[in-house]
Amino acid sequence: MIEIMTSFSRSVSLKQRVSTIGSPRAVGSPRLSRRSWSSRSILIPIGIAFVLSFFLAIGLRYLYVLPSLTQTSRFQDNSVSGLNGSDNSCDLFYGDWILDDRYPLYNASECPFVEQGFNCLENGRKDDGYLKWRWKPKSCAISKFNVQHLLQMLRNKRIVFVGDSMSRTQWESLICLLMTGVEDKKSVYEVNRSKITKQIRFLGARFSSLNFTIEFFRSVFLVQHNWAPRRGPKRVRSTLRLDKLDDISNEWINSDVLIFNTGQWWVPGKLFGMGCYFQIGNTLKLGLPIDSAFRIALNTWSTWIDRMIDSNRTRVFFRTFEPSHWSNQTLRLCDVTTQPLSETRGYESSPFSDTILDVVKTMAVPVTVLHITPLSAFRSDAHVGLWGDKPNMSDCSHWCLPGVPDTWNELLLTALFSNKEASFRSHV
Ligand SMILES: *[C@@H]1O[C@H](CO)[C@@H](O)[C@H](O)[C@H]1NC(C)=O
Ligand SMILES: *[C@@H]1O[C@H](CO)[C@@H](O)[C@H](O)[C@H]1NC(C)=O
Ligand SMILES: *[C@@H]1O[C@H](CO)[C@@H](O)[C@H](O)[C@H]1NC(C)=O
Ligand SMILES: *[C@@H]1O[C@H](CO)[C@@H](O)[C@H](O)[C@H]1NC(C)=O
Ligand SMILES: *[C@@H]1O[C@H](CO)[C@@H](O)[C@H](O)[C@H]1NC(C)=O
Ligand SMILES: *[C@@H]1O[C@H](CO)[C@@H](O)[C@H](O)[C@H]1NC(C)=O
Ligand SMILES: *[C@@H]1O[C@H](CO)[C@@H](O)[C@H](O)[C@H]1NC(C)=O
Repeated sequence: MIEIMTSFSRSVSLKQRVSTIGSPRAVGSPRLSRRSWSSRSILIPIGIAFVLSFFLAIGLRYLYVLPSLTQTSRFQDNSVSGLNGSDNSCDLFYGDWILDDRYPLYNASECPFVEQGFNCLENGRKDDGYLKWRWKPKSCAISKFNVQHLLQMLRNKRIVFVGDSMSRTQWESLICLLMTGVEDKKSVYEVNRSKITKQIRFLGARFSSLNFTIEFFRSVFLVQHNWAPRRGPKRVRSTLRLDKLDDISNEWINSDVLIFNTGQWWVPGKLFGMGCYFQIGNTLKLGLPIDSAFRIALNTWSTWIDRMIDSNRTRVFFRTFEPSHWSNQTLRLCDVTTQPLSETRGYESSPFSDTILDVVKTMAVPVTVLHITPLSAFRSDAHVGLWGDKPNMSDCSHWCLPGVPDTWNELLLTALFSNKEASFRSHV
């Protein structure tokens, strides 16, 4: 059924029981995207106004590109580069999964910030091999998770996650990782004493003894979601304003670290299926394909970042698409494996990720792309499956905690603290 490649690697200390799961590039599985773009070609002619604004946007973009050529070259490898300040060869996102008995890094049942739906062990998952994998980049190291050091580095900081439930799970993971170093667990609390729910728009965990917060803003599309205009067609119940960032975006500005994600909601079922269509200015764009709309939204996001974010104060990250592993998503068929895949079978590429990588190249504010799509693509063993909070509903999109989101955070922290030049420039 699932072929597992188990080899013994010399690159890790002898003490560890080691097997590795190869890298997507090495394996070279076909670059075929599982989730193909919906091209609902109702082909309504695109208005002149839109064409003009498009060219205007392109024009503006060139104004941004020219002064920032030196910065964009830092991201030529589609990855975090220059990690030690001068070297371009290290790609954190290219490597292997390695068994490591020191994992997982925390116990979800002892962390009040793991929502029940992600605590697979508590929800009855019996196998625990999926907890033991560590990501090892090929040509560089992720520093060992040193919680006391990290807590000190984060003192007085404000870290803000913005995005969908995948962002929320990463928020939960980061809090739990860091709480392992805090003795008085009561000193870490949600600022409004809110319960973690799927719809909540704001959550903030305060580490009071260290005076830092880790916040989450739910903004599944990043752009503004409005009720439908009055005189639209009946089927239009709401619209996404592709030219306007979410109305809570003001609250993201004054932060030290900003981590974005989006993608999971840009699918026909969650848009057109819910009566949600695109809008630019006052004009409905009923025939606009999702991939084009996604790109316009991301350009709106990048323009906003360039205008609103002080790159001397804030480090900006964009995490790429989180691959799902449904065997048939329409029928909601999902088989969580006990071992990672030996090859990524096309899951390693996503048009969402490609667009993100593309858009950041044109920006004035440096944005680090956390390109976690390929490495997560191996992890068909790490999804919630039947061990979530919905009985009899399997889930091959979300991830168990502890698990893969912890790796996203280890990569985030490595990128944040190994580029001394760029991290928290105004504070050091
Ligand atoms: C950065 O890494 C490269 C290659 O590993 C090494 O040659 C160089 O000395 C390092 N630079 C610093 C400042 O550590
Ligand atoms: C996690 O903590 C709970 C509660 O303290 C405990 O019952 C359980 O055995 C622990 N699980 C693991 C895997 O250590
Ligand atoms: C807490 O951190 C904020 C910045 O986030 C800073 O303005 C404030 O002075 C800090 N408070 C203390 C007591 O250090
Ligand atoms: C939650 O806390 C934040 C910051 O302390 C505050 O601005 C906001 O109004 C609070 N929201 C709610 C719903 O209480
Ligand atoms: C960032 O700081 C540097 C040095 O202090 C300054 O020259 C530059 O203008 C600042 N950039 C922005 C965008 O404020
Ligand atoms: C999923 O199942 C549906 C209904 O049986 C079928 O039409 C579709 O082709 C299947 N999709 C895949 C990817 O197998
Ligand atoms: C889940 O499925 C089992 C067996 O198929 C059934 O006995 C149970 O009633 C179902 N539970 C719910 C909540 O649907």
